Amino acid sequence: MLADRYGNPTSTASRAALDHYDAALESIRLYRGDPIAALDAALEEDPQFSAAWAARAGLFAQATDKAFAGEIARNLKSGAQGRMTPREALHLDAARAWAEGRYAEGAALYARCAQEHPRDLLALQFAHVACFFLGMQHELRDWPLQALRAFRRGDDGYGPLLGMVAFGFEECGDYERADAMGREAVALDGRDGWAVHAVAHVNEMRGDTDAGIPWLAGAADTWAPDSGFAYHNWWHLALLHLDREDFAAALALYDDKIRPNPDGDIVLELVDASALLWRLHLLGAETGDRFAKLADAWARTRDDAIYAFNDLHAIMALLGAGRMVDAERTLSAVRRAAAGDGDNAFMSRSVGVPLAEGFIAFGAGRFEESAAKILGARGLAQRFGGSHAQRDILTLTALEAALRGGLRDTAEAIAFERTTHKPHSPWARTLARRAQNLAPPRA
Ligand SMILES: [Fe+2]
Repeated sequence: MLADRYGNPTSTASRAALDHYDAALESIRLYRGDPIAALDAALEEDPQFSAAWAARAGLFAQATDKAFAGEIARNLKSGAQGRMTPREALHLDAARAWAEGRYAEGAALYARCAQEHPRDLLALQFAHVACFFLGMQHELRDWPLQALRAFRRGDDGYGPLLGMVAFGFEECGDYERADAMGREAVALDGRDGWAVHAVAHVNEMRGDTDAGIPWLAGAADTWAPDSGFAYHNWWHLALLHLDREDFAAALALYDDKIRPNPDGDIVLELVDASALLWRLHLLGAETGDRFAKLADAWARTRDDAIYAFNDLHAIMALLGAGRMVDAERTLSAVRRAAAGDGDNAFMSRSVGVPLAEGFIAFGAGRFEESAAKILGARGLAQRFGGSHAQRDILTLTALEAALRGGLRDTAEAIAFERTTHKPHSPWARTLARRAQNLAPPRA
């Protein structure tokens, strides 16, 4: 039996299969190239190689798209029939749990695998991404931190591991360490889009457009080509332009980089597209027919209700397109999910339903109800995953609802919070001025 590039024993005796598998591991950790094609090549060489089936299942499972259910089931079945080490069996169990909607259990199984095999960077990465979907901020930081004990500077995979730790530190508010580790990882390999992203988050949270825009735009020729994650880093660049109230730059990025194919229906890309257009909508920017096209792209998945975070973003697109009836229909699907089983039921009940109702109330012009519902769920919203930067759309929408609904105290309070977090953001200052204009004259 041969060991993979990190030193983990595998079930294959085929050097050719392992070479393809190792190529897939690099592709996955950098979010670049086509890991599925590399895994397929490995399985061509050794169809009994369970680790490759498990990796395939894990990748499709974490795409959070019901359309892959059949594909995942086939991968899990093939993997179970193959040869496997105990570590590979754990990978299969974790992917199965995730695919069946037992998200927290899947995350815990991947994390257990990474703890028992600290050089299993793939298990760690699946656990890390799982934390992101589940809003487990401390584990997002601490699980990769634990694996650092098994890596030394210069080891294969050390940089991507640092990138994961950096993002975890960022989500836990330790921006200095996040920035330093993220920059170190990018210095080791400028193609590491996740590490680039960790630093982008630091700049986003600080509202530091002077550092943030050059960080992303200046190195895009290195991190963007062939990256399956580039759309999200471009989205971050667009957010920084919005902080400068530069609608044109944000829209240009939407058209050229985030949504170059208006018919594309990869769910994670649709989420970012919705989140950017909704921010522009809040700003009163002219977005043309982009919402209509985006709402059409959501059509395939908008009622699947397998993940409440996605559902809210589908609702944003539908509301922006003026399709209130369809938005209400997606809300009904979220309510059905809330009454069901699994982790998404919990997310939908505690966060998804009130937020969907709050956004729909905003779309209907019921601003007081909108602000109340969104602010009521905001403190719990990490339960439905995403990053602080993504969930900032809750704060922005609630603030806009308060401004439009004449809720002076609420608007002033949130605007003050925002200018404190982002003292150099022109957008934050504009919001604060609008809030102050609502307020009665001070004595
Ligand atoms: Fe992000």
